[in-house]
Amino acid sequence: MKIDGKEYKSIWLEESDPVVLKVIDQERLPFFFEIKELRTVEDVFSSIKDMTIRGAPVIGVAGAFGMYLATVEITEYSNIHDHLRNAARYLISSRPTAVNLSWAVNTVLDELSVASTVEEARSMALSAAKKIYESEIRSCRDIGRNGLPVIKEISKRKKGKPVNILTHCNAGWLACIDYGTVTSPIYLAHKQKIPVHVWVDETRPRNQGARLTAFELVNENIPHTLISDNTGGHLMQHGMVDMVLTGSDRTSKNGDVANKIGTYLKALAAKDNNIPFYVALPSSSIDFSISNGIEEIPVEERDAEEVTNITGYSDGKIASVRICPEKTRAVNYGFDVTPARLITGLITERGICGASEKEIKKLFSDKYN
Ligand code: MRU
Repeated sequence: MKIDGKEYKSIWLEESDPVVLKVIDQERLPFFFEIKELRTVEDVFSSIKDMTIRGAPVIGVAGAFGMYLATVEITEYSNIHDHLRNAARYLISSRPTAVNLSWAVNTVLDELSVASTVEEARSMALSAAKKIYESEIRSCRDIGRNGLPVIKEISKRKKGKPVNILTHCNAGWLACIDYGTVTSPIYLAHKQKIPVHVWVDETRPRNQGARLTAFELVNENIPHTLISDNTGGHLMQHGMVDMVLTGSDRTSKNGDVANKIGTYLKALAAKDNNIPFYVALPSSSIDFSISNGIEEIPVEERDAEEVTNITGYSDGKIASVRICPEKTRAVNYGFDVTPARLITGLITERGICGASEKEIKKLFSDKYN
């Protein structure tokens, strides 16, 4: 995607110095556009934990490159495989909900099980991480192609009037390296001159919608309107939303979708108003080992200060201000799980399927052993 006319990915390995991983600092957007360099496993761990990089696919890719950096850190005193296993465990512990992270880290770790020298481990890790990187980009591109007909169909029904799409959080190219998941069909529709308009949920407490999705849409000139998180139901009741489209951090094999906190409420409102609720996700976000998302997906609990305070831009700086009495306690669940029954369809790199084990299996039979 382009920023001020220059092509960027949200994460990349520095060509001239391949032990430097570069990332767009999402904590600073949209106020400052800054690139951060990650050189160690510790750097990768902390930038995932503090959300310098966030969004399921990109943290998976960061974890994969983190494993490559782990091979660079092997010393003559370390046992190669103990070292790699410890690094994998450490990286995976940075955030619990998005399955992409453990999937990508474990994929690289598995490939390295046959490495017998440090050099071998290094080159195998690099090519495994690059493979994941490229396949995530391709998946997002294909999600766009597969999701486009849904938008086209609504546009046809509305005789070319703008298709109003409501989204929650950020499942754009910052979260997904390039294209995005949710944004991919939207960009494609826009390119094909199908009028679209996006309702952007601000997404408290961290405001990924206001800060990141809005930033991405501004950059691509896509008409959008920012709304507070509680506005969606009202818009739906008044015919102002044609479809809801969100991402996913982990989807269980029965089709329950964990996504940013607040997604479930949007799905309930969509059901009550007969509005289609789609989820765009690459298969790296499907956890084929879990059958019941509500019971089994771990929901991250983050610092209560993200709720008691709000972060914004003032006087040339990013600042945080308190919004409640000092003695008020807060709790901060990062995600919720939308039950499969509320979901119209899953838009994946292989096509669209219903949110059920039977339907998911039709597209991904190779993932069931
Ligand atoms: O806590 P975050 O910002 O990492 O949340 C993850 C998300 O960005 C969303 O839940 C998103 O919709 C799925 S990831 C493309």
